[in-house]
Amino acid sequence: MSKIISLGIWALGIMLMASQKHSPLLSNVGLSVLAYKATAFFIPRVGAAFIRRGFSGKDMNKVEKRVIPETMGAVSSMVYFMCMILFIPVLFYKYLVPEQSKNQPENPLEVLSDGYTSVAKAQFPHDQLGAYLSAVISILSISLLGIFDDLFDIRWRHKFFLPAIAAIPLLVVYYVDYGVTYVSVPTLLRPFFQRSIVDLGFLYYIYMAAVAIFCPNSINIIAGVNGVEAGQSLVIGLVVLCNDLIYVFHPSNPEAVRAHLLSIYLILPLLGVTAGLLKYNWWPSRVFVGDTFCYFAGMVLAVVGILGHFSKTLMLFFIPQIFNFILSVPQLFGFVECPRHRLPRLNVKTGLLENSYTEFAEGVPLPTKTLLTIRLFEAFRLIRVDWDQKTKRPIRCTNFTIINFVLYHTGPMREDHLTLCIMGIQLAVGLFGLAIRHGLAPLVYPQDNI
Ligand code: UD1
Ligand code: MG
Repeated sequence: MSKIISLGIWALGIMLMASQKHSPLLSNVGLSVLAYKATAFFIPRVGAAFIRRGFSGKDMNKVEKRVIPETMGAVSSMVYFMCMILFIPVLFYKYLVPEQSKNQPENPLEVLSDGYTSVAKAQFPHDQLGAYLSAVISILSISLLGIFDDLFDIRWRHKFFLPAIAAIPLLVVYYVDYGVTYVSVPTLLRPFFQRSIVDLGFLYYIYMAAVAIFCPNSINIIAGVNGVEAGQSLVIGLVVLCNDLIYVFHPSNPEAVRAHLLSIYLILPLLGVTAGLLKYNWWPSRVFVGDTFCYFAGMVLAVVGILGHFSKTLMLFFIPQIFNFILSVPQLFGFVECPRHRLPRLNVKTGLLENSYTEFAEGVPLPTKTLLTIRLFEAFRLIRVDWDQKTKRPIRCTNFTIINFVLYHTGPMREDHLTLCIMGIQLAVGLFGLAIRHGLAPLVYPQDNI
């Protein structure tokens, strides 16, 4: 029975994919279904080869700590690139194969000779192809960085800014095609600014480069629990898709429709390859996604935000990642010691995940900045600190991550429930972001600034 369903899904994907004459969108849906099937087909087949080449990791939150294939994001990103390349002739089909109207000659040679094809060629949207190819280059270069990181464990300070360089083709396309660098001032603040828009100029490009740095890295640090990297990417991708569909089906202007259609073409295959990966990465994981996947998925999301002209709205969907980043600042910037792994710990007796801690060695004096940070974060109930009642000195504190924050407030949880919990928060925040963007924003800004 499952074989028949599987064959049915392949057939559906191929049928939709072949419907490009009617709509590139339908073909893209078909391609994404095929991307799901292809990813799910390859992952179990290449796992052993990946382990042989050293792409493997220990599942730390299992009793037997099995070694399983890592860097499976490489399979997802390769399938994704195949889709992107296959989609190019589909997207531009009508310019490559012009429709024959009734009063035109039947013989294709005559069609060529009457100049019809050259008209189609003249209308070819080179700007759209440029935007599409800039997305391919940016995502491809960041996937390469991910593979190198999985191979060599590159240091944070060496890899942190690379996504900004990878984003340069996107920023050039943005500058040439769209170039909007102003932000609308909310109605309430207009008397203070005495204008309805503020032009950020070059700073807006710095902001977009920062988005490209933030998205891949922020996904990579909500990690370490089976399924959580792919799970959060899947939910953000779905929310972005909803946002795009709202623009496409309630068009405000043709420019917005074009930008959001491009975003859909990039996001649907991401959903396909992520779902295919999640099938094997879900608890109990049979494969790990690796940094490759985190960077790849984060970059696709940054790319659609920039090329779809909604990089500010995108940040609403990344609120859990922003929260996790702010929470992580003391450990990332050395105010509090940062262990190599901050993922939660398994309690072997209960089978549940509990908080992981940073321990403070006895007798070693703690710097004032560490003590102040710990007290501040404890006061806001962001971390739990165990104090030595006699010496009034901290013994240990929970690690500064959203995953530990959730466990601190909910108590121990099974690994898959914890992933579902993070995905639930991500979804709730995404729906809230959509409500703000489409419900509240029009009230705060009289005209929509797409
Ligand atoms: C980031 C986090 C680190 C976290 C790690 C987990 C920061 C600054 N870094 O580091 O705290 O521990 O991700 O991925 O926040 N693993 C599991 N179960 C999983 C996923 C991963 O045990 O479900 C382990 C495996 O041993 C795997 C390793 O984590 O080999 C991968 O870690 P890696 O991606 O190299 O860590 P970082 O991205 O550097
Ligand atoms: Mg990682």
